[in-house]
Amino acid sequence: MGLTSASCLATKCDVLGFDTNAKKIEEVKLGKAPFFEPRLDDILDKVIKKGAFQTTSSYVDAVLGSNVTFICVDTPTDASGSSNLGYVESAASMIAESLEMKSSWHLVVVKSTVPPGTTSQIVKSILERGSKRLGVDFGLCMNPEFLREGSAVEDMLNPDRIIIGEADKKSGDNLEQLFREFYGEKLPPILRENLENAELIKYTNNAFLATKVSFANMIANLCEQIPGADVTHVMKGIGYDKRIGSQFLSAGVGWGGSCLPKDTRALVSTSKKLGCDLMLVRDAITINDERPRHMVKLAEEAVGGLNGKCVSLLGLSFKPKTDDIRNAPSLSIIKSLLELNARVSVYDPVAMENVQRIFGDKLTYCKTAFECLERSECCMLVTEWDEFKLLTPDDFLKRMNTPVLIDGRRIYDLKSFEHKIELRAIGLGQSRDAVK
Ligand code: UDX
Repeated sequence: MGLTSASCLATKCDVLGFDTNAKKIEEVKLGKAPFFEPRLDDILDKVIKKGAFQTTSSYVDAVLGSNVTFICVDTPTDASGSSNLGYVESAASMIAESLEMKSSWHLVVVKSTVPPGTTSQIVKSILERGSKRLGVDFGLCMNPEFLREGSAVEDMLNPDRIIIGEADKKSGDNLEQLFREFYGEKLPPILRENLENAELIKYTNNAFLATKVSFANMIANLCEQIPGADVTHVMKGIGYDKRIGSQFLSAGVGWGGSCLPKDTRALVSTSKKLGCDLMLVRDAITINDERPRHMVKLAEEAVGGLNGKCVSLLGLSFKPKTDDIRNAPSLSIIKSLLELNARVSVYDPVAMENVQRIFGDKLTYCKTAFECLERSECCMLVTEWDEFKLLTPDDFLKRMNTPVLIDGRRIYDLKSFEHKIELRAIGLGQSRDAVK
């Protein structure tokens, strides 16, 4: 999120990027993003060559050499499900230390996802540890981002809205001015909020998205028990209702990534500490946790047990257009398959190395989807990469020992696969003779 925001801002502003990870700084200096994100390398390369995006290994230089500092550090989930704010606190400390050496007013903006109250209590008190005071020597805002992996550049350049949480009017005015200059006539709606509302909007946004998907997955389970029912049709039907909207209603193997799992758990944990039980979000998490096991169950039913069977997984990343496997459903599916003593072959266009670092030689790593299908007795479509959508029934028939396909993301047209291969799918009611 930090690198995407910095690179995009550098197309209009002068940006100084600091990170404690020297290797990342070196890669960025070469105009190379240390991870796969469409369009990012191009933008980064341009702004580095233009000299608009400089990097520094000194956080003091970063603060002294700028007017506004965005805190874009990770807030991982700790064992209790709460947000670990260690990185935010150390970033705030670095800024506080630097402010002691600065005479002009400086704006600090928390962009990281933090529980309500973090900015106004924790970050503010760290920044005021020295001689500087909020409202006099520095300003403080909370400006959540809504970037989706795989379309982060698009989301940064064309956001639906900008949320500015402000400790005081001057802080908000300064940040609003920066965005007005950056977006120009493409300026999206700007909401000026207090710090707590800005923090809560971010968590609530992700919790609602997660709940919407889990709702679709819950209805998918129902559809599987009703011959002829199909969750894709049901969700398409309700999506026409403007009050519902058609997005985030695709039933599948569940949501992964670094945000939805983390933010839903952090919101439930924070709320519990405040004596408020977010039952609906808790249930959304429970439904989601069950998706990988459900996918394996469909496979077991389709091939009559997986012990010793050769199973091929198409797709490992938590979603297409990213190499990110954090909380990816594929990881839980692979663990379950190995526990069932299945022989697992995997293929993903970009995430293979990340998976190999976890499972080592326990899996067979294939170079293409076709290779992954060779001699397979059950194929599980886990991530809806475009290249998998081009596979035809014959591609499965020609290569698999037993052509059984479990469509975990509903990308295959039932009619074209009918009577050719055994296709089971999330949210598809089996014909009467297939339903146990
Ligand atoms: C999410 C939020 O969308 C973004 O606003 C926030 O800033 C970060 O978290 P991201 O995690 O990158 O972004 O991906 P997203 O596109 O939201 O998908 C999250 C997960 O939900 C993926 O695993 C995806 O496969 C799954 N999903 C999404 C579904 O299963 N069904 C859907 O209909 C949509």
